[in-house]
Amino acid sequence: MLSTSNSNAHHASPTGQQRTTAILVTGAGGEMGHGLLSALNAARTSNSSVGDDAHPAIIAVDIRELAPEIREQCDHTYVGDVCDHALLERLLAMYEISEIYHLAALLSTRSEFAPETAHQVNVGGTLNLLHLAAEQARSHGRTVRFFFPSSIAVYGLPDLATKHAAGAISEGKFCDPHTMYGCNKLTGEHLGRYYDHHYRKLAKDRFENPVDFRSIRFPGIISAETMPSGGTSDYGPEMIHAAAAGREYHCFVRPDSRIPFMTMPEAIDATVRLMRTPKKNLKRSVYNVSSFSPSAEDFASLVRQAFPKAAITFQPDLGRQSIIDSWPETCDDSAARRDWGWNATHTLQAAFSQYLLPRIAGRYAKTSAH
Ligand code: SER
Repeated sequence: MLSTSNSNAHHASPTGQQRTTAILVTGAGGEMGHGLLSALNAARTSNSSVGDDAHPAIIAVDIRELAPEIREQCDHTYVGDVCDHALLERLLAMYEISEIYHLAALLSTRSEFAPETAHQVNVGGTLNLLHLAAEQARSHGRTVRFFFPSSIAVYGLPDLATKHAAGAISEGKFCDPHTMYGCNKLTGEHLGRYYDHHYRKLAKDRFENPVDFRSIRFPGIISAETMPSGGTSDYGPEMIHAAAAGREYHCFVRPDSRIPFMTMPEAIDATVRLMRTPKKNLKRSVYNVSSFSPSAEDFASLVRQAFPKAAITFQPDLGRQSIIDSWPETCDDSAARRDWGWNATHTLQAAFSQYLLPRIAGRYAKTSAH
């Protein structure tokens, strides 16, 4: 395990007896980590912390060395595996953790090539982090708030006719995932609910509700800043980034393929909003969120409008197509609207004109200038 401390840290290096109060982010180097760390820092700087502590340290774990711009956002960073018990024991000893954002996972396409490894990382890692949260709660006497990004991959529509007829799917329907990743996310949701409400039910020294577990079933997420890797919804972002970079793109699903998407700022906003909501308002532990649901052809048309030279062809891959066909067209997010005020900020058009195009054009202009 490698660890580094940011010299600009708000907190002294945790070497003494006293443990440093901290927010832990796993998988911090992934797509969501970027945006989430900025939001957590902004909340801390404006003194309106997401958690109870006004100035918790931000500590990050990732399997790879974190990029300098991510390290800058953290007080302490660790290169290590969420399956490494020694690393988690060390974090338990060093920090008094108030919140965990457990983002580390293998995505759906990658998981289909190594399902057992995916299970170890996605379920084993989640179990380890939930256990760390429960041990933390026991040691400092306060519930640990836990965020788990779940996915539309937990749904499994049996065929296209059912998918078209189903309309907006609510949280309790069609939870029969076709992918290992979907199975893992559904298991993670159940484990979280268990640690929150039922953990060590029969133990005499039981600490009630050690973990305050909150989860969002995200659709495909599109970021202007980063490229996804290993996901099945990647065709959306890949199409846009390829056109902006002047590369041709072979889309791996049919033009009529339709699943929900949202922009990265919407995903971060949803995460922070859910984590700030008082527990008493939350009637569920897992929520759908919904923004826009374009077909792959809708995407391609907007990309061609923005980048008239874009060369996009459709070359469906039957396996990845079958995954997309098993995911819903839209999700019913009425519970999220009701309980924590979720509201999408972008239509597909606005996502392009207000967020993606201005940022992506700048990004590739910078790249080609160097
Ligand atoms: N975007 C994820 C994937 O494609 C689904 O949550 O794996």
